[in-house]
Amino acid sequence: MDQHIKNEVFDYAKAWILEAGERIRSKIDSPRSIETKSNANDLVTEMDQETEQFFAKKIKDTYPQHYLFGEEGFGDEIEDLGGTVWIIDPIDGTMNFVHQKRNFAISIGVYFEGIGEVGLIYNVMEDVLYAVKRGEGAYKNDQRLPDLSEKRPLKESILALNTSWLIPENPHVEHNGMEELVKTLRSTRSYGSAALEFAFVAEGVLDGYLTMTLMPWDYAAGSILVREVGGIVTRADQEELDLLNSTTVLASRANIHKEISENYVQLKK
Ligand code: IPD
Ligand code: CA
Ligand code: CA
Ligand code: CA
Repeated sequence: MDQHIKNEVFDYAKAWILEAGERIRSKIDSPRSIETKSNANDLVTEMDQETEQFFAKKIKDTYPQHYLFGEEGFGDEIEDLGGTVWIIDPIDGTMNFVHQKRNFAISIGVYFEGIGEVGLIYNVMEDVLYAVKRGEGAYKNDQRLPDLSEKRPLKESILALNTSWLIPENPHVEHNGMEELVKTLRSTRSYGSAALEFAFVAEGVLDGYLTMTLMPWDYAAGSILVREVGGIVTRADQEELDLLNSTTVLASRANIHKEISENYVQLKK
């Protein structure tokens, strides 16, 4: 991506994400219409939809030739990652948004010919912005995030992990391996916003994040951020991520990545 365009895209994305966040904060106590999508616990609100529409309009007005790939369907039908694609989750952590009115984020990843160039994750209620331009450093507000070079053993690591993957009937991963992993780790956390979990890995307050079902908009920004500070982001079986479909994801410090995948994750089927 041309450096001038990259800087411009970053500046617009930053201005828009802050504006969208401000709007969500100003309406956080307004009555909410809550609908369900794929199941009774898969929530969506008018704020998810309005926020994605806000980005759709800004992007189309400013860059008519760019594509938008967003969770709520106000963007384009994407079949490949040719050209410039904005991959957006307008509210990541909708359940937290509804139940807690905090711990949710807006996530924007901008890809050029399949490469993640710009990533922003905005923790709306805390007014904290994680931002990255590939190859130019990752930031938490104005503070540059240091490299994740420290080698921390698994037994001293904290991993973001949802308890769903420990239920024997879960369709994705053998629970025995997950149990062994939990016993080995120092501890686990589950924040309910994939984007924030990536941001916390990049910040070094989590040592890794392992999950079995993410969509591209959940990790489009987070994967750029974590890689920028030297972390590794792949599918849970260490294969390349598929940026168009649901996937498993393992994002972590470099020294524990292979160990987690090879010794503890046995995917079903
Ligand atoms: C969800 C959150 C959650 C993750 C789910 C996602 P949404 O996104 O990131 O942490 O476990 O897989 O779908 O629906 O709140 O944008
Ligand atoms: Ca959702
Ligand atoms: Ca999401
Ligand atoms: Ca969402």
